Amino acid sequence: MSEQLPSVLDFLAILSCPITGNDLRELNPEELSALNTLVEQRELFHYEGSQETQAFQRALTSSCGKFYYRIEQGVLILLKNLALTTAEHLNQEEDRSGLMKDKKDVQDFYNQFGWNKTEDGVFHDADEFEDLRPVSQEYVYDCNMRVKNYLRPKGDYLLDAASGPIQFDEYLEYSKDYKYRICMDLSFLALRQAREKLGNRGIYLVADITNMPLKAGTIDAVVSLNTIYHITKDEQVTAVQEMYRVLKPEATGIVVYSWGRRSHLNNFLALPHKIVRKLKAIVRTSMPQKEGKTPELYFHAHPRSYFTSERLGFDMKLSVWRLVSVPVMKYYVHGWLGGKALLRSIYRLEDKRPEWCGKVGEYPMFVFQKKVEDMPSHSQPQENKELELTLN
Ligand SMILES: C[S@@+](CC[C@H](N)C(=O)[O-])C[C@H]1O[C@@H](n2cnc3c(N)ncnc32)[C@H](O)[C@@H]1O
Repeated sequence: MSEQLPSVLDFLAILSCPITGNDLRELNPEELSALNTLVEQRELFHYEGSQETQAFQRALTSSCGKFYYRIEQGVLILLKNLALTTAEHLNQEEDRSGLMKDKKDVQDFYNQFGWNKTEDGVFHDADEFEDLRPVSQEYVYDCNMRVKNYLRPKGDYLLDAASGPIQFDEYLEYSKDYKYRICMDLSFLALRQAREKLGNRGIYLVADITNMPLKAGTIDAVVSLNTIYHITKDEQVTAVQEMYRVLKPEATGIVVYSWGRRSHLNNFLALPHKIVRKLKAIVRTSMPQKEGKTPELYFHAHPRSYFTSERLGFDMKLSVWRLVSVPVMKYYVHGWLGGKALLRSIYRLEDKRPEWCGKVGEYPMFVFQKKVEDMPSHSQPQENKELELTLN
Protein backbone atom coordinates (compact mmCIF):
# COMPACT_ATOMS: atom_id res chain seq x y z
CA MET A 1 0.00 0.00 0.00
CA SER A 2 1.67 3.24 -1.05
CA GLU A 3 -0.47 5.66 0.89
CA GLN A 4 2.46 7.87 1.89
CA LEU A 5 0.68 8.89 5.08
CA PRO A 6 2.61 9.47 8.23
CA SER A 7 2.12 6.28 10.17
CA VAL A 8 -1.16 6.69 12.05
CA LEU A 9 0.85 5.68 15.09
CA ASP A 10 2.39 9.16 15.00
CA PHE A 11 -0.86 10.86 15.83
CA LEU A 12 -3.25 8.18 17.14
CA ALA A 13 -2.79 9.51 20.67
CA ILE A 14 -4.80 12.65 19.91
CA LEU A 15 -7.70 10.91 18.12
CA SER A 16 -10.82 9.62 19.80
CA CYS A 17 -13.82 7.54 18.77
CA PRO A 18 -16.67 9.87 17.68
CA ILE A 19 -19.21 7.60 19.38
CA THR A 20 -17.61 6.67 22.68
CA GLY A 21 -14.74 9.16 23.00
CA ASN A 22 -12.42 6.16 23.55
CA ASP A 23 -8.89 5.78 22.24
CA LEU A 24 -8.45 4.39 18.73
CA ARG A 25 -5.91 1.90 17.44
CA GLU A 26 -5.15 0.43 14.03
CA LEU A 27 -6.24 -3.14 13.27
CA ASN A 28 -3.47 -5.70 12.71
CA PRO A 29 -3.55 -7.94 9.59
CA GLU A 30 -5.37 -10.82 11.36
CA GLU A 31 -8.02 -8.49 12.76
CA LEU A 32 -8.42 -6.88 9.36
CA SER A 33 -9.00 -10.23 7.71
CA ALA A 34 -11.59 -11.12 10.41
CA LEU A 35 -13.32 -7.80 9.69
CA ASN A 36 -13.35 -8.54 5.96
CA THR A 37 -14.93 -11.92 6.68
CA LEU A 38 -17.75 -10.07 8.46
CA VAL A 39 -18.15 -7.90 5.34
CA GLU A 40 -18.33 -11.00 3.10
CA GLN A 41 -20.92 -12.55 5.39
CA ARG A 42 -22.95 -9.31 5.33
CA GLU A 43 -22.64 -8.98 9.10
CA LEU A 44 -21.12 -5.52 9.31
CA PHE A 45 -23.28 -2.39 9.46
CA HIS A 46 -22.80 1.34 9.47
CA TYR A 47 -23.92 2.92 12.70
CA GLU A 48 -26.76 4.53 10.74
CA GLY A 49 -28.01 1.02 9.92
CA SER A 50 -26.99 0.38 6.28
CA GLN A 51 -24.97 -2.73 5.41
CA GLU A 52 -21.24 -2.51 4.57
CA THR A 53 -20.32 -4.27 1.34
CA GLN A 54 -16.78 -3.01 0.66
CA ALA A 55 -13.65 -4.76 1.92
CA PHE A 56 -11.12 -2.87 4.07
CA GLN A 57 -7.45 -2.32 3.43
CA ARG A 58 -6.87 -0.45 6.67
CA ALA A 59 -9.09 0.35 9.61
CA LEU A 60 -9.09 1.75 13.12
CA THR A 61 -11.05 0.42 16.04
CA SER A 62 -12.29 1.97 19.23
CA SER A 63 -10.53 0.56 22.28
CA CYS A 64 -13.82 -1.08 23.37
CA GLY A 65 -13.57 -3.14 20.15
CA LYS A 66 -17.15 -2.41 19.08
CA PHE A 67 -16.67 0.22 16.39
CA TYR A 68 -14.48 0.31 13.30
CA TYR A 69 -13.45 3.20 11.08
CA ARG A 70 -12.28 2.92 7.50
CA ILE A 71 -9.02 4.43 6.24
CA GLU A 72 -9.44 5.10 2.52
CA GLN A 73 -6.78 6.63 0.25
CA GLY A 74 -5.00 8.09 3.25
CA VAL A 75 -8.18 9.64 4.65
CA LEU A 76 -9.59 8.52 8.01
CA ILE A 77 -13.40 8.27 7.99
CA LEU A 78 -14.33 9.26 11.53
CA LEU A 79 -18.00 10.15 11.16
CA LYS A 80 -20.30 8.69 13.77
CA ASN A 81 -22.90 7.56 11.24
CA LEU A 82 -20.24 5.78 9.14
CA ALA A 83 -18.72 3.89 12.07
CA LEU A 84 -18.99 0.15 11.46
CA THR A 85 -20.24 -2.40 13.90
CA THR A 86 -22.04 -5.72 14.20
CA ALA A 87 -25.81 -5.99 14.71
CA GLU A 88 -25.47 -6.68 18.45
CA HIS A 89 -23.87 -3.28 19.02
CA LEU A 90 -26.35 -1.23 17.10
CA ASN A 91 -28.06 0.66 19.86
CA GLN A 92 -31.73 0.43 18.88
CA GLU A 93 -32.82 3.25 21.13
CA GLU A 94 -30.49 5.92 19.85
CA ASP A 95 -31.39 8.02 16.85
CA ARG A 96 -29.06 6.67 14.18
CA SER A 97 -30.67 8.45 11.26
CA GLY A 98 -27.28 9.54 9.98
CA LEU A 99 -26.23 13.07 9.22
CA MET A 100 -29.02 15.53 9.69
CA LYS A 101 -30.55 16.64 6.42
CA ASP A 102 -28.88 20.08 6.40
CA LYS A 103 -25.44 18.52 6.95
CA LYS A 104 -26.02 15.91 4.28
CA ASP A 105 -27.05 18.67 1.86
CA VAL A 106 -23.86 20.64 2.61
CA GLN A 107 -21.78 17.48 2.18
CA ASP A 108 -23.48 16.71 -1.16
CA PHE A 109 -23.08 20.30 -2.31
CA TYR A 110 -19.30 20.15 -1.79
CA ASN A 111 -18.76 16.59 -2.99
CA GLN A 112 -20.83 17.07 -6.12
CA PHE A 113 -20.28 20.75 -6.93
CA GLY A 114 -18.22 23.04 -4.66
CA TRP A 115 -14.96 21.07 -4.75
CA ASN A 116 -15.16 20.19 -8.43
CA LYS A 117 -13.35 22.53 -10.78
CA THR A 118 -14.64 24.75 -13.57
CA GLU A 119 -13.21 24.59 -17.08
CA ASP A 120 -10.72 27.26 -15.96
CA GLY A 121 -9.40 24.98 -13.22
CA VAL A 122 -10.99 27.00 -10.40
CA PHE A 123 -13.06 25.42 -7.64
CA HIS A 124 -16.78 26.11 -8.15
CA ASP A 125 -16.86 27.31 -4.53
CA ALA A 126 -14.35 30.08 -5.26
CA ASP A 127 -15.91 30.83 -8.61
CA GLU A 128 -19.30 31.40 -6.93
CA PHE A 129 -18.37 33.01 -3.63
CA GLU A 130 -14.98 34.74 -3.99
CA ASP A 131 -13.74 37.71 -5.98
CA LEU A 132 -10.99 36.19 -8.11
CA ARG A 133 -10.35 39.20 -10.34
CA PRO A 134 -6.73 40.41 -10.55
CA VAL A 135 -7.71 43.82 -9.11
CA SER A 136 -8.82 42.16 -5.85
CA GLN A 137 -6.06 39.57 -5.57
CA GLU A 138 -3.77 41.53 -3.25
CA TYR A 139 -6.59 42.43 -0.84
CA VAL A 140 -7.96 38.87 -0.74
CA TYR A 141 -4.44 37.52 -0.12
CA ASP A 142 -3.69 40.06 2.63
CA CYS A 143 -6.96 39.31 4.43
CA ASN A 144 -6.26 35.58 4.27
CA MET A 145 -2.77 36.18 5.67
CA ARG A 146 -4.17 38.35 8.47
CA VAL A 147 -5.41 35.16 10.17
CA LYS A 148 -1.81 33.99 10.69
CA ASN A 149 -1.02 37.00 12.91
CA TYR A 150 -3.24 35.56 15.63
CA LEU A 151 -1.88 32.02 15.64
CA ARG A 152 1.06 30.45 17.41
CA PRO A 153 3.80 30.49 14.77
CA LYS A 154 4.67 26.84 15.35
CA GLY A 155 3.58 23.73 17.16
CA ASP A 156 2.64 20.09 16.66
CA TYR A 157 -0.92 20.36 15.39
CA LEU A 158 -2.83 23.08 13.59
CA LEU A 159 -6.46 22.09 13.10
CA ASP A 160 -8.23 23.40 10.01
CA ALA A 161 -11.87 22.80 10.92
CA ALA A 162 -13.80 22.38 7.66
CA SER A 163 -10.65 22.80 5.62
CA GLY A 164 -12.09 22.04 2.22
CA PRO A 165 -9.21 21.24 -0.16
CA ILE A 166 -7.07 24.13 1.30
CA GLN A 167 -8.20 26.06 -1.71
CA PHE A 168 -5.84 29.05 -1.52
CA ASP A 169 -2.08 28.62 -1.33
CA GLU A 170 -1.70 31.26 1.37
CA TYR A 171 -3.76 29.06 3.72
CA LEU A 172 -0.74 26.73 3.76
CA GLU A 173 1.28 29.48 5.43
CA TYR A 174 -0.68 29.07 8.69
CA SER A 175 0.78 25.61 9.25
CA LYS A 176 4.15 26.09 7.55
CA ASP A 177 6.07 25.60 10.82
CA TYR A 178 3.75 23.03 12.33
CA LYS A 179 4.48 19.34 12.40
CA TYR A 180 0.99 18.47 11.13
CA ARG A 181 -2.02 20.27 9.77
CA ILE A 182 -5.19 18.38 10.57
CA CYS A 183 -7.69 18.84 7.75
CA MET A 184 -11.18 17.99 8.95
CA ASP A 185 -14.16 18.13 6.63
CA LEU A 186 -17.38 16.33 5.70
CA SER A 187 -16.22 16.16 2.08
CA PHE A 188 -14.02 13.22 1.11
CA LEU A 189 -13.34 14.89 -2.24
CA ALA A 190 -12.00 17.99 -0.45
CA LEU A 191 -9.65 15.94 1.71
CA ARG A 192 -8.28 13.93 -1.19
CA GLN A 193 -7.36 17.21 -2.85
CA ALA A 194 -5.96 18.67 0.38
CA ARG A 195 -3.76 15.59 0.56
CA GLU A 196 -2.39 16.29 -2.91
CA LYS A 197 -1.25 19.69 -1.60
CA LEU A 198 0.08 18.77 1.82
CA GLY A 199 1.09 15.13 1.49
CA ASN A 200 2.44 13.55 4.63
CA ARG A 201 2.43 16.81 6.60
CA GLY A 202 -1.34 16.51 6.76
CA ILE A 203 -3.78 14.38 8.72
CA TYR A 204 -7.05 13.96 6.85
CA LEU A 205 -10.24 13.32 8.77
CA VAL A 206 -13.74 13.01 7.33
CA ALA A 207 -15.48 14.18 10.47
CA ASP A 208 -18.17 16.50 11.75
CA ILE A 209 -16.78 19.62 13.39
CA THR A 210 -19.71 19.60 15.82
CA ASN A 211 -18.46 16.23 17.14
CA MET A 212 -14.70 16.24 16.66
CA PRO A 213 -12.87 12.90 17.00
CA LEU A 214 -10.05 14.65 18.88
CA LYS A 215 -9.10 14.62 22.53
CA ALA A 216 -9.43 17.75 24.63
CA GLY A 217 -6.36 19.96 25.00
CA THR A 218 -4.31 18.48 22.17
CA ILE A 219 -4.24 21.20 19.47
CA ASP A 220 -1.86 24.18 19.20
CA ALA A 221 -4.02 26.34 16.92
CA VAL A 222 -7.40 26.03 15.27
CA VAL A 223 -8.91 27.92 12.36
CA SER A 224 -12.31 27.67 10.77
CA LEU A 225 -12.80 29.89 7.77
CA ASN A 226 -16.11 30.64 6.11
CA THR A 227 -17.94 27.60 7.39
CA ILE A 228 -19.77 27.99 10.70
CA TYR A 229 -22.71 29.75 8.99
CA HIS A 230 -23.21 26.65 6.81
CA ILE A 231 -23.85 24.62 9.98
CA THR A 232 -27.40 24.21 11.24
CA LYS A 233 -28.24 27.27 13.32
CA ASP A 234 -28.63 25.35 16.59
CA GLU A 235 -25.27 23.63 16.20
CA GLN A 236 -23.06 26.61 15.35
CA VAL A 237 -22.21 27.22 18.99
CA THR A 238 -21.39 23.51 19.43
CA ALA A 239 -18.86 23.72 16.58
CA VAL A 240 -17.11 26.70 18.18
CA GLN A 241 -17.18 24.97 21.59
CA GLU A 242 -15.59 21.90 20.03
CA MET A 243 -12.81 24.10 18.67
CA TYR A 244 -12.26 25.50 22.15
CA ARG A 245 -12.36 22.06 23.78
CA VAL A 246 -9.54 20.63 21.66
CA LEU A 247 -7.17 23.58 22.13
CA LYS A 248 -4.13 23.32 24.39
CA PRO A 249 -3.93 25.82 27.25
CA GLU A 250 -3.35 29.37 26.01
CA ALA A 251 -3.61 28.30 22.37
CA THR A 252 -5.72 30.40 20.03
CA GLY A 253 -8.71 29.68 17.83
CA ILE A 254 -10.01 31.75 14.92
CA VAL A 255 -13.46 31.66 13.35
CA VAL A 256 -14.20 33.67 10.23
CA TYR A 257 -17.94 34.26 10.16
CA SER A 258 -20.36 36.25 8.01
CA TRP A 259 -23.11 38.55 9.23
CA GLY A 260 -24.85 37.93 5.90
CA ARG A 261 -27.74 40.32 5.46
CA ARG A 262 -27.13 41.68 8.95
CA SER A 263 -24.20 43.82 7.76
CA HIS A 264 -25.97 47.17 7.35
CA LEU A 265 -22.93 48.68 5.68
CA ASN A 266 -22.89 46.04 2.96
CA ASN A 267 -26.69 46.11 2.61
CA PHE A 268 -26.49 49.80 1.94
CA LEU A 269 -23.55 49.53 -0.47
CA ALA A 270 -25.15 46.61 -2.30
CA LEU A 271 -28.45 48.38 -2.87
CA PRO A 272 -27.81 49.51 -6.48
CA HIS A 273 -26.48 46.03 -7.33
CA LYS A 274 -29.60 44.42 -5.85
CA ILE A 275 -31.93 46.70 -7.81
CA VAL A 276 -30.14 45.85 -11.06
CA ARG A 277 -30.32 42.13 -10.20
CA LYS A 278 -34.06 42.35 -9.47
CA LEU A 279 -34.67 44.08 -12.78
CA LYS A 280 -32.64 41.44 -14.60
CA ALA A 281 -34.63 38.69 -12.84
CA ILE A 282 -37.91 40.27 -14.00
CA VAL A 283 -36.64 40.33 -17.59
CA ARG A 284 -35.37 36.76 -17.26
CA THR A 285 -38.75 35.34 -16.12
CA SER A 286 -40.12 36.23 -19.51
CA MET A 287 -37.25 34.34 -21.20
CA PRO A 288 -36.31 30.59 -21.21
CA GLN A 289 -34.37 29.57 -18.04
CA LYS A 290 -30.64 28.81 -18.21
CA GLU A 291 -29.61 25.19 -17.54
CA GLY A 292 -27.12 24.24 -14.78
CA LYS A 293 -28.16 26.51 -11.89
CA THR A 294 -25.94 26.47 -8.77
CA PRO A 295 -27.38 24.03 -6.20
CA GLU A 296 -28.69 25.47 -2.92
CA LEU A 297 -26.38 25.65 0.10
CA TYR A 298 -27.57 26.01 3.71
CA PHE A 299 -26.70 29.40 5.22
CA HIS A 300 -27.71 30.92 8.54
CA ALA A 301 -26.10 34.02 10.03
CA HIS A 302 -26.80 34.68 13.71
CA PRO A 303 -26.74 38.27 14.99
CA ARG A 304 -23.80 39.52 17.03
CA SER A 305 -25.82 39.23 20.24
CA TYR A 306 -26.02 35.45 19.77
CA PHE A 307 -22.37 34.65 20.46
CA THR A 308 -22.28 35.61 24.13
CA SER A 309 -19.81 34.27 26.69
CA GLU A 310 -22.78 32.81 28.59
CA ARG A 311 -23.90 30.78 25.61
CA LEU A 312 -20.37 29.71 24.63
CA GLY A 313 -18.85 29.20 28.07
CA PHE A 314 -15.80 31.34 27.18
CA ASP A 315 -14.95 34.79 25.82
CA MET A 316 -14.41 35.63 22.18
CA LYS A 317 -12.91 38.84 20.91
CA LEU A 318 -14.37 40.44 17.83
CA SER A 319 -12.00 41.40 15.03
CA VAL A 320 -12.30 41.61 11.26
CA TRP A 321 -11.37 39.40 8.37
CA ARG A 322 -12.92 41.49 5.58
CA LEU A 323 -15.11 44.55 5.71
CA VAL A 324 -16.70 44.29 2.29
CA SER A 325 -18.74 41.50 0.77
CA VAL A 326 -17.91 39.89 -2.56
CA PRO A 327 -20.90 41.40 -4.45
CA VAL A 328 -19.96 44.86 -3.13
CA MET A 329 -16.36 44.37 -4.28
CA LYS A 330 -17.47 43.20 -7.70
CA TYR A 331 -19.79 46.18 -8.02
CA TYR A 332 -17.48 49.01 -6.91
CA VAL A 333 -13.91 47.79 -7.28
CA HIS A 334 -12.48 48.12 -10.78
CA GLY A 335 -8.95 48.67 -12.03
CA TRP A 336 -9.96 51.71 -14.09
CA LEU A 337 -11.60 53.23 -10.98
CA GLY A 338 -8.49 52.94 -8.78
CA GLY A 339 -9.80 49.68 -7.30
CA LYS A 340 -6.47 48.46 -5.96
CA ALA A 341 -5.86 51.71 -4.08
CA LEU A 342 -9.40 51.62 -2.71
CA LEU A 343 -8.90 48.10 -1.36
CA ARG A 344 -5.56 49.09 0.17
CA SER A 345 -7.33 51.89 2.05
CA ILE A 346 -10.00 49.47 3.24
CA TYR A 347 -7.31 47.08 4.42
CA ARG A 348 -5.58 49.87 6.37
CA LEU A 349 -8.89 50.84 7.97
CA GLU A 350 -9.49 47.21 9.00
CA ASP A 351 -6.05 47.10 10.60
CA LYS A 352 -6.67 50.36 12.45
CA ARG A 353 -10.22 49.65 13.63
CA PRO A 354 -10.55 45.85 13.67
CA GLU A 355 -13.39 45.68 16.18
CA TRP A 356 -15.52 48.36 14.55
CA CYS A 357 -14.95 46.83 11.09
CA GLY A 358 -15.81 43.40 12.52
CA LYS A 359 -19.08 44.83 13.84
CA VAL A 360 -20.32 46.68 10.78
CA GLY A 361 -18.59 44.74 8.01
CA GLU A 362 -19.47 41.51 6.24
CA TYR A 363 -16.93 39.05 7.63
CA PRO A 364 -16.02 39.28 11.30
CA MET A 365 -13.26 37.22 12.82
CA PHE A 366 -13.76 35.74 16.30
CA VAL A 367 -10.59 35.17 18.29
CA PHE A 368 -10.49 33.07 21.46
CA GLN A 369 -7.79 31.71 23.73
CA LYS A 370 -8.08 28.57 25.83
CA LYS A 371 -7.92 29.27 29.55
CA VAL A 372 -5.72 26.97 31.61
CA GLU A 373 -8.54 26.47 34.12
CA ASP A 374 -10.81 25.18 31.33
CA MET A 375 -8.56 22.18 30.73
CA PRO A 376 -10.05 18.87 31.87
CA SER A 377 -7.94 17.29 34.63
CA HIS A 378 -7.98 14.07 32.55
CA SER A 379 -10.24 12.44 29.99
CA GLN A 380 -12.72 11.01 32.47
CA PRO A 381 -15.89 12.14 30.63
CA GLN A 382 -14.97 9.97 27.66
CA GLU A 383 -14.98 6.86 29.79
CA ASN A 384 -18.38 7.84 31.19
CA LYS A 385 -19.76 8.10 27.68
CA GLU A 386 -18.68 4.53 26.99
CA LEU A 387 -20.31 3.37 30.22
CA GLU A 388 -23.63 4.93 29.22
CA LEU A 389 -23.48 3.15 25.92
CA THR A 390 -22.92 -0.30 27.40
CA LEU A 391 -25.66 0.17 29.97
CA ASN A 392 -28.28 1.00 27.32
C1 LIG B 1 -17.24 27.43 2.35
S1 LIG B 1 -16.31 25.98 2.50
C2 LIG B 1 -14.91 26.61 3.36
C3 LIG B 1 -13.68 25.79 3.17
C4 LIG B 1 -12.40 26.43 3.73
N1 LIG B 1 -12.47 26.62 5.15
C5 LIG B 1 -12.10 27.71 3.02
O1 LIG B 1 -12.24 28.78 3.61
O2 LIG B 1 -11.72 27.64 1.85
C6 LIG B 1 -17.17 25.06 3.74
C7 LIG B 1 -16.61 23.68 4.05
O3 LIG B 1 -17.17 23.25 5.27
C8 LIG B 1 -17.43 21.87 5.22
N2 LIG B 1 -18.41 21.58 6.28
C9 LIG B 1 -19.65 22.07 6.41
N3 LIG B 1 -20.23 21.60 7.53
C10 LIG B 1 -19.32 20.80 8.14
C11 LIG B 1 -19.31 20.02 9.33
N4 LIG B 1 -20.36 19.97 10.15
N5 LIG B 1 -18.20 19.32 9.64
C12 LIG B 1 -17.12 19.33 8.82
N6 LIG B 1 -17.08 20.05 7.68
C13 LIG B 1 -18.16 20.78 7.34
C14 LIG B 1 -17.89 21.66 3.79
O4 LIG B 1 -17.78 20.32 3.40
C15 LIG B 1 -16.94 22.60 3.04
O5 LIG B 1 -15.78 21.93 2.65
